[in-house]
Amino acid sequence: MQIFHTVNGLRQSLVAARSTGKRIGFVPTMGNLHDAHIALIKQAQQTNDVVVCSIFVNGLQFGLNEDWDKYPRTLEADSGRLRDAGCDFLFHPNDQEMYPNGLDTQTRVICPTMTDVLCGASRPGHFEGVTTVVTKLFNIVQPDEAVFGMKDFQQLAVIRRMTEDLCVPVVITGAPIHREPDGLAMSSRNSFLTPEERPKANQLYLSLNWIVSQINAGNRDYKTLEKQASEQIEDVGFRADYISVCNSKTLQMAADDDRDITVLGAMYTSGARLIDNISLN
Ligand code: PAJ
Repeated sequence: MQIFHTVNGLRQSLVAARSTGKRIGFVPTMGNLHDAHIALIKQAQQTNDVVVCSIFVNGLQFGLNEDWDKYPRTLEADSGRLRDAGCDFLFHPNDQEMYPNGLDTQTRVICPTMTDVLCGASRPGHFEGVTTVVTKLFNIVQPDEAVFGMKDFQQLAVIRRMTEDLCVPVVITGAPIHREPDGLAMSSRNSFLTPEERPKANQLYLSLNWIVSQINAGNRDYKTLEKQASEQIEDVGFRADYISVCNSKTLQMAADDDRDITVLGAMYTSGARLIDNISLN
């Protein structure tokens, strides 16, 4: 695996790959890689000749009081895992390389409406940071296909929409959620759970599942289901940020006759904010 720290270095190697007709797959990450990230690499390998992974803890998508400075940076372990997985290129730029003109005056990409709800409501500016960095990364890598996890359901929906709206020539692929044996969705932020919190941290998943079973049994009182699920989370000692039954495409509150529904949730633990979702068929 070749490691690049500069845009030009990566571009030169990709030009060479592209000129021989190779199809390029891309997996953007913030590092601290776990099995779910590696599954995205494996998925990208299935339909591409060359796979690029980026690791960049993007300051632009973190709020002032969020965990940018304590976000785990584990480059050595990450590059070992990527090498073992057969990843071809790792792009690991520093802040200066990605934002040479600084963050404040950086041109931004804004995807309105969809980013005001759910995670966007409690993390103002977050999705603007995501769409901006992903656009930059797409322009740097120019992949044929980019793979994103469905764990970040809203992020995936926003990126799909942005790609469509801006006519970016890339196929966006969603990969299934990877979970721990007790159902907790894998996340770099799970390392912030205390030993006391960890056994209860699957409550978000359990409560989302409970809503799904209620809907499948014919219950359409979404507001009450959301409230009861939030109470279940609070009963085990966490704080629910939101629990929402949504239309999978628009991410607005689901209507009674909507059939394409996703139940999304976020909760605060003492040191982290965890998210999860389940789509109904
Ligand atoms: P990060 O949180 O590192 O996630 C990188 C990719 O891994 C995302 O597509 C995310 O959805 C996926 N992922 C993480 N945990 C997963 C799980 N348990 N199951 C399936 N997929 C999972 O998301 C970001 O980084 C950033 O916002 C980024 C897109 C890189 C832009 O900075």
